[in-house]
Amino acid sequence: MKEKTQAIKTELEQRFAAGGCATSKELAELKMQYLGKGGKISELSKGMREVPAEQRPEAGRLLSELRAWAEEAFAAREAELKRAELAAKVASERIDVTMPAKYFRGGSVHPVTLVRRELEEIFSGMGFHIYEGPEIERDYYNFQALNIPADHPARDMQDTFFVGGEFLLRSQTSSGQIRVMEKQKPPIKVLSPGRVYRSDSDATHSPMFHQMEGLVVDKGITLCDLKGILDEFARRMFTAETKTRFRPSYFPFTEPSVEVDLSCKNCGGKGCRICKGTGWIEVLGAGIVNRRVLENCGIDPDVYTGFAFGIGLERIAMIKYGIGDIRLLFENDVRFLRQFGD
Ligand code: PHE
Repeated sequence: MKEKTQAIKTELEQRFAAGGCATSKELAELKMQYLGKGGKISELSKGMREVPAEQRPEAGRLLSELRAWAEEAFAAREAELKRAELAAKVASERIDVTMPAKYFRGGSVHPVTLVRRELEEIFSGMGFHIYEGPEIERDYYNFQALNIPADHPARDMQDTFFVGGEFLLRSQTSSGQIRVMEKQKPPIKVLSPGRVYRSDSDATHSPMFHQMEGLVVDKGITLCDLKGILDEFARRMFTAETKTRFRPSYFPFTEPSVEVDLSCKNCGGKGCRICKGTGWIEVLGAGIVNRRVLENCGIDPDVYTGFAFGIGLERIAMIKYGIGDIRLLFENDVRFLRQFGD
């Protein structure tokens, strides 16, 4: 028995020493061969029956010593392998934190959106609420209720896309004025931003563009209130020195109507290429809400008065950022768009 146990011990020592069992799988197989059921050590135990009775205690001792030694040897080797495997895993998955990161360029906010947000901020700071009306609009809201009947020549001022029946793509956010006044009684102070459509396309006109309508209705509202609000808008949107100028104009839904110019921020009013030598840039249409429009919405024009204005957002963006062609705003060329905002 002594020789047999010694032989097994030597065999195992050789297997471990020669760098055998490089993986836990190999080690587990080897363990089966020796310590498993039917393994070499187990076979030896079965052989105990043939050992003469007087040698049995000694043989039993040798055998259990061998078993204990083998179990320990396997456990030690197992732990060693686990450590090595873990170390290899850590090494192969190591992250080099000094490597340059993959560059991801985020998008940027569109200049028209920047202008819209800025205007919303300026006007909501002055107490305006935001109202967004539908883009597919009834003829009634876009024209008739705004004092533009079917045969009125003012319809030619806006080359409209008709959808069918009484529906059209709204050509102005002024339609929002009617929708608000139908539902709400004065005092009213709303801002209505959104897309509008006209069959028009060149360097300064786009078939789709954005407007922002302002409407204030209350007792005693005058042209002075309009001027005050627009002066504040001009100073906040451009510079503290920016001035506004009212020129007489015509819109069927306002009376009197004005065209509003801003002093040119490029030359400070002296006259340059941008303002075509005039010192002023035309930016929006406005006026005192026509009595007929108030009446159409059930508001008594002898009690209440109001003013309205319509700002073209692309126009403001073009002035603010010095953009010469409106089409640049709709081509979605990221090299152009990246220059704005964050
Ligand atoms: N709706 C007019 C336009 O699109 C602008 C405007 C709005 C004029 C409100 C006066 C009052 O041209």
